[in-house]
Amino acid sequence: MKVAVTYSTKEGLEKEFAEFGGRQFSGEDEPPPTDFFAEGDSSATIDSVLQAISSLGHDLRGYEADADLCSRLRCDPPQLVFNMAEGLFGASRESYVPTLCEKLCIPYTGSDPLVLAVCLNKAKCKELLSFHGIATPKFVLVSEEMSLSALKKLRFPAIVKPNCEGSSKGVFNDSVVKDFESLRAKIENNFRQYSQAAIVEELILGREFTVATIGNGDGMEILPPVEICHSELPSGAWPIYSYEAKWIWDRPEKPLKIFDCPAKLSKPLKAKIEKLIRRTVSAMGIRDWCRTDIRLDSEGNPQVIEINPLPGILPNPEDNSCFPKAARSAGYSYPQMLGKIIDCAARRNGIK
Ligand SMILES: Nc1ncnc2c1ncn2[C@@H]1O[C@H](COP(=O)(O)OP(=O)(O)OP(=O)(O)O)[C@@H](O)[C@H]1O
Ligand SMILES: [Mg+2]
Repeated sequence: MKVAVTYSTKEGLEKEFAEFGGRQFSGEDEPPPTDFFAEGDSSATIDSVLQAISSLGHDLRGYEADADLCSRLRCDPPQLVFNMAEGLFGASRESYVPTLCEKLCIPYTGSDPLVLAVCLNKAKCKELLSFHGIATPKFVLVSEEMSLSALKKLRFPAIVKPNCEGSSKGVFNDSVVKDFESLRAKIENNFRQYSQAAIVEELILGREFTVATIGNGDGMEILPPVEICHSELPSGAWPIYSYEAKWIWDRPEKPLKIFDCPAKLSKPLKAKIEKLIRRTVSAMGIRDWCRTDIRLDSEGNPQVIEINPLPGILPNPEDNSCFPKAARSAGYSYPQMLGKIIDCAARRNGIK
């Protein structure tokens, strides 16, 4: 099959920032936060993805998802786009490639533009989950012009996160607050650093899992859950999978043993988790692949923290990337994992 991989490298995002960023960040302001490019992939990751998909026998090209992507896809349309582009600007940035593909009538892997945008908007996503009766921690969305009185209904400890980010951007160890004054300071810091609404959530502190899925409908496969072992974090750190935990305390040269996969689960807990995942994927209209973060509440019931319909897929096992880890645990090599995602998108689109 003629396949095009679309991606956002860190270098590509930096170029995009240099060309267009001035319109959003007027020169005098603070520079973008240190984690601004955290969602971009390294060239090494992209090379591994390209190599793996080529090894499956596909006729392959790879494109940075920059402003010229539309004309590249138009000049040489593939039969399928394998999309892993995170984008840079705006809360709907993950929808850029799927929207282009829809305009050009090119089938692509993964969820549609609406689902990608909703899942990147934590509050909107939680509103939808609640409509479907799916448990998720209580929250309040705070915009700059709003009074903070609505926050009085939340219990401490609470966590403050930028509403539309991923890769733990803006989720630091000190994002957890225990009193109203620190909450107010954290929210102000969020506006200054991330120029967007803050979501404040009650913290639920039970076991945490992230669950990868591949496929659609009844054929969807739930890969072995990965447990986040907070006990491996430095002493005194909050038991959360923060930016520090993901990118600073855990490095390939000094990996944290933070994951257990397959997670050790009793039969009833496994069944509860699987039921929650199936309901979540179906309620949100997720396609082909996804990774859902969940945590147990004080009664031992799983709640959805957030949904990643465009999950990270760092190839190197030392990089501790959850989706490939779950796939390895299910017995799939890296190329087999990518092949399965491509196959379900192809099947869904009637491509032989
Ligand atoms: N309400 C909550 N209760 C308990 N822990 C939470 C809550 N919200 C976030 N966390 C912790 O913070 C981590 C990061 O939060 P979240 O998953 O929302 O951020 P993200 O940047 O979207 O993550 P990802 O890297 O998966 O895209 C979670 O994995 C979890 O450990
Ligand atoms: Mg997460």
